[in-house]
Amino acid sequence: MENELENLTKEIQDDFININSIDELEKIKIKYIGRNGILAQYFKRMKDLPPDEKPKIGKILNTIKKDLEYKIEIKSKELNKNKQEEKIIDISLPGYRFLSGKYHPLTQIINQTKEIFKSLNFDITEGPEIETEYYNFEALNTPKYHPARDTQSTFYLGEETLLRTQTSPVQVRYMEKEKPPIRVISIGKCYRSDQLDPSHSPMFHQVEGLMVDKNITFGDLKGILKIFLSRIFEKKVKIMLNPSYFPFTEPSAEVSTSCVICEGKGCSVCKNTGWLEIFGAGMVHPNVFKSVNYDSEKWTGFAFGGGIERLAMIKYNINDIRLFYENDIKFLEQF
Ligand code: DAH
Repeated sequence: MENELENLTKEIQDDFININSIDELEKIKIKYIGRNGILAQYFKRMKDLPPDEKPKIGKILNTIKKDLEYKIEIKSKELNKNKQEEKIIDISLPGYRFLSGKYHPLTQIINQTKEIFKSLNFDITEGPEIETEYYNFEALNTPKYHPARDTQSTFYLGEETLLRTQTSPVQVRYMEKEKPPIRVISIGKCYRSDQLDPSHSPMFHQVEGLMVDKNITFGDLKGILKIFLSRIFEKKVKIMLNPSYFPFTEPSAEVSTSCVICEGKGCSVCKNTGWLEIFGAGMVHPNVFKSVNYDSEKWTGFAFGGGIERLAMIKYNINDIRLFYENDIKFLEQF
C-alpha cells in the first residue's frame, strides 16, 4: 500500500498541473476527496491492514489529504482572483496607443525628391555646408560688390569662408569633377542671417538641380519640373515660368506651380493668384561654364533651385516654417 500511495501523490501532482479553471478544480476535488473519492476508498481499506501497519499508513493518508486540501484552497484562490481580474476589464476604455517612429516631414520630402529624380536618371550628390566665397559666389558669376550678394545675408566665418547661402555651389563642384552630359541634384542645408519668422529661418534646406547636354532648352526644364512637382504634390500641376534674374543663369526664370490647394481658383495660400512661386531657375550662364572649363558653344544646360521647407509647407498646408524645427510631437506625428 505504501507504494500505491507514493504513486497517488504523483498522480495528484500531475492532475494539479493541468488545472486551468474552477470547473476543472471541482472535478479533481470530487475525484480525490469526494464521498466516494479515491482517498475515501483508501481509508476504507485501512481495516484490512495488519494492525502494525495501520498507524503508519493512516499517517501517510492523512498527510496526503491535508496536502490536497491545502493545494485546493490555494488553487481556488488563484483561479478566483483571475476571474475577478477578467471581470474588471472595461472594454469601453480607450486602448494603449503605441507610438511608432516616423520620418520628419522634411526628411520625407527629401527622400521623395531623391526617389523622383533617381527615376529620371539623375545622380545625387552633396557639397559642404561650410563653403568658400569662390564656390558660393565667384564661380557662380557673382563677384565681390555684385548687388546680388546683398540679397543673401551671408554668415561669414572668415575672410574666404562662409556658411553656404544656397546649394548652387554644388553645381560648380560637380561640374569640376564630372564631364557632360550631366543630370544631378543635390539637397542640403543652407544658412542666411534672416530673422526667424513664419516664413524665414536662418537655416533651411534647398534642392538644386542641374542638367547639361547638347541642345538643352527651357522646354527640358519645364518638362522635368512638371514631372517632379506633379509627383511630389501627388496631383497634376501646371507650370508657369516668369522672367527673373540670377547671376548664374541667362535667361533666368521664376518657376511657379498652379496652386495645389485651390487648383488655380484662388485662395489665401496663393493670395488669390492661383499660382505658387517655387523655384528659381534658368539656363546656365556661359561664365559659370567658363569657371569649370566647359565649352559653352558646345554645351547648354538648365539649373534650378528652391526650398525644401516651401515644398513641404505647400504639400501639407503648413503656414509657419518654425514648426519644422520645434520637434513638437503633436505636430510631427501628423505626417
Ligand atoms: N540659388 C538660388 C537662391 O537661393 C535659387 C536658384 C536660382 C538656383 C536659379 C538655381 C537657379 O540653380 O538656376 O535663391
